[in-house]
Amino acid sequence: HAQLNKLAVAAGKKYFGSATDNSELTDTSYTAVLSDADEFGQITPGNTQKWYYTEPEQGTFTYTEGDVIVDFAQNNSQIMRCHNLVWYNQLPAWISSDSWTNDTLTEAMTTHITNEVTHYTTDAGECYAWDVVNEALSDSSGYRDNIFYETIGEYYIPIAFAAAAAADPAAKLYYNDYSIEFTGTKLTEALAIVDLIQGAGVQIDGVGLQGHFIVGEVGSASALAAVLEQFTAKGVEVAYTEVDVRHASLPPTDAEIEQQAVDYAAVVSACLSVSDCVGITVWDFDDKYSWIPSTFSGAGEACLYDENLSKKPAWTSVSSVL
Ligand code: XIL
Repeated sequence: HAQLNKLAVAAGKKYFGSATDNSELTDTSYTAVLSDADEFGQITPGNTQKWYYTEPEQGTFTYTEGDVIVDFAQNNSQIMRCHNLVWYNQLPAWISSDSWTNDTLTEAMTTHITNEVTHYTTDAGECYAWDVVNEALSDSSGYRDNIFYETIGEYYIPIAFAAAAAADPAAKLYYNDYSIEFTGTKLTEALAIVDLIQGAGVQIDGVGLQGHFIVGEVGSASALAAVLEQFTAKGVEVAYTEVDVRHASLPPTDAEIEQQAVDYAAVVSACLSVSDCVGITVWDFDDKYSWIPSTFSGAGEACLYDENLSKKPAWTSVSSVL
């Protein structure tokens, strides 16, 4: 089988990519795979462009760690999805502890966006796309009660996109969230976020569906594609931005390993079948560095490669459908 990005590009997609993180880049057997642009043509930093890292004190911007990932991608001719500008999680302490007004928090948010988006420009080949707002929606219904929503209201979202567009008109600006891959309340609300931004006359180019799936719960490619098309009908592109398919408990049976391969193939097939689905990013490609075990107790082995960096049946099935 040929490599994944090479196949994806031949199939008309922009990229097949992977997230990574700074601490992993000292592992030379890992970077030997990650640096191959025919396998992964796109990189997302798993952490080090987040607000916690980039503006640890108000007005003090530090891009050293994020730059390491961007340099890695540029050295290997890989494009970058940059992640992320506004999120409720991994915020520096000063945001959570200060008392904000609508005006002061809007100012702090737009300053952060302007500074970071200006540091990493599309024209310099540093960011093809930005996840401008990440995970604005609650898991039950409505907006997540984050500091931005509580202080500014839902217009923090179009305000954030407008600031990003002003700082880099060439960047593709995305709303990114999870549990919007299937029909349901959260999907309906994510579609409404696109309407909110467009209704404000502000640029939004894409929606990222994170794609943190569970083995056996992915369903058919056609059902997934029908969801993608609800977004593309609004004139935005889509991408699967953080794909992994975790086993809910370990070790998986042989049947579950095969099901994981079927599930990965369905996700990739869905994107292939929708012309405005531009690409697929896995949230790291190997079980050694996956975030899943530390976040979902008892779950794991969610990636295309195992912890010894050997290709799993899921890799073969993805390669076969691409
Ligand atoms: C995760 C990272 O992978 C972890 O290393 C970190 O501890 C927490 O964040 N959705 C997102 C990502 O948008 O930023 C998250 O990344 C995973 C869920």
